[in-house]
Amino acid sequence: MNAQSTTFPTAALIDGKWITSSKTFPVLDPATGSKLADVPDLNADDARRAIDAAHQAFPAWAAKPAKDRSAILRRWYELLLAETESLAQLMTAEQGKPLCEARKEVVYGASFVEWFAEEGKRAYGHTIPTTGASRRYLTIKQPIGVVAAITPWNFPIAMITRKVSSALAAGCTIVVKPSEETPLCALAVAKLAVDAGVPAGVFNVITTMDAASVGQALTGDDRVRKLTFTGSTEVGKILYRQSADTIKKLTLELGGNAPLIVFDDADLERSIAAAMASKFRNAGQTCVCANRILVQSGIYDRFVASLHEATSKLHVAPGRDPQSTIGPLINADAITKVKALLADAVAKGAKIEVGGTPDAHGPLFFTPTIVTGVKPRMAIANEEIFGPVASLIRFDTEAEAIAIANDTPYGLAAYLFSQNVSRAWRVAEALEAGMVGINEGMFSNEVAPFGGVKQSGLGREGAQEGLEEYLETKFLCIGGITS
Ligand code: SIN
Repeated sequence: MNAQSTTFPTAALIDGKWITSSKTFPVLDPATGSKLADVPDLNADDARRAIDAAHQAFPAWAAKPAKDRSAILRRWYELLLAETESLAQLMTAEQGKPLCEARKEVVYGASFVEWFAEEGKRAYGHTIPTTGASRRYLTIKQPIGVVAAITPWNFPIAMITRKVSSALAAGCTIVVKPSEETPLCALAVAKLAVDAGVPAGVFNVITTMDAASVGQALTGDDRVRKLTFTGSTEVGKILYRQSADTIKKLTLELGGNAPLIVFDDADLERSIAAAMASKFRNAGQTCVCANRILVQSGIYDRFVASLHEATSKLHVAPGRDPQSTIGPLINADAITKVKALLADAVAKGAKIEVGGTPDAHGPLFFTPTIVTGVKPRMAIANEEIFGPVASLIRFDTEAEAIAIANDTPYGLAAYLFSQNVSRAWRVAEALEAGMVGINEGMFSNEVAPFGGVKQSGLGREGAQEGLEEYLETKFLCIGGITS
């Protein structure tokens, strides 16, 4: 498809104006390598102009009654849903995921807007029992100010709506720098926000290939009071350091190395369905996907056989093919990484049970793969695979599984499968992760707090907690009260 022929913009958005530039970069379809559009390649000065706009728009937006902001967000939600099909087509063209997944992502992305349209009305402070007869205490919640959001390519709509809707609901204004791989989805959702009535300057989008300079402009500016980032731990650390000088509040959704633990007493069918959903969603390109599948000895052989059978039903094809369940990876680096991880694992004694090769559909397609006999020391057990590779580790005891699961600097998601309630509680409590799926392989939704511990990040998105991230608590002490 040609994104130029859709109604969605290919220009950046600053202060309510669609901005073009003589300098552009191409957006490519990963399934075919063909060009979808050219978008402006903006720079640090443009980022500062966007911050100016967000800074100027902030007082009026913050002063609006939450109910009025809510009405605009609600309209945005309705427009997103009304455009589900065209947004999904755009996403599949730009990002590569199968159309059925793209449609689900639009609905998932819109759900955050609906949730925060409501939740913004509930930014409650509270009263505090006094410590002195002549004083009264209370807190109020206020928006933190201008927010900068740096967003990834793997969920090019949901990761933007999750951040922008919570910021806007709280009364903040925002500058978004989307991934250079998927700027069109960002611009499309921004257009719908404008159509819904989001005022000029409240939501700005800077498209750029120069992530480093634009990132520095965003993190270095004292007027930006909050940075929210989804991406790698490596880049998260750089942004964390860069934000130190201006003491920004941070939400960081970083890398993961999720263990999915299947105990002997698990419901096999359920654990296979969950492992498939967790592992192969978006061709394995999610931060929460099962990066290590730990299977207890007593169920191991049956699990491998069933996983093999389920994997053989996956259909690799361009995302626009209605049969597709596995689309292309995002770029050549992703393919190189998957191949290198598999080569390292095989060299150290692992066995490729199925797949393990590029797929004939094109240079960015990779066959769904199962690799067994993985050991914790292998790179594949320590790095995010971000590809359609199920990596299986065998274990004997509960204690061993917990030790392997926690032996990582990451702590985003974890999954466990057991029909023993005591074990499920014990293990869920012991796992070092921000989110644990118990007999569930997919848990992301707008009402649940999304985020990690350890080097997987700071803060939470979605849920009640997601609004708090954009609010400051102000304490009011009222003195001189006479009886
Ligand atoms: C991610 O992988 O970055 C987000 C996945 C989700 O929201 O479920």
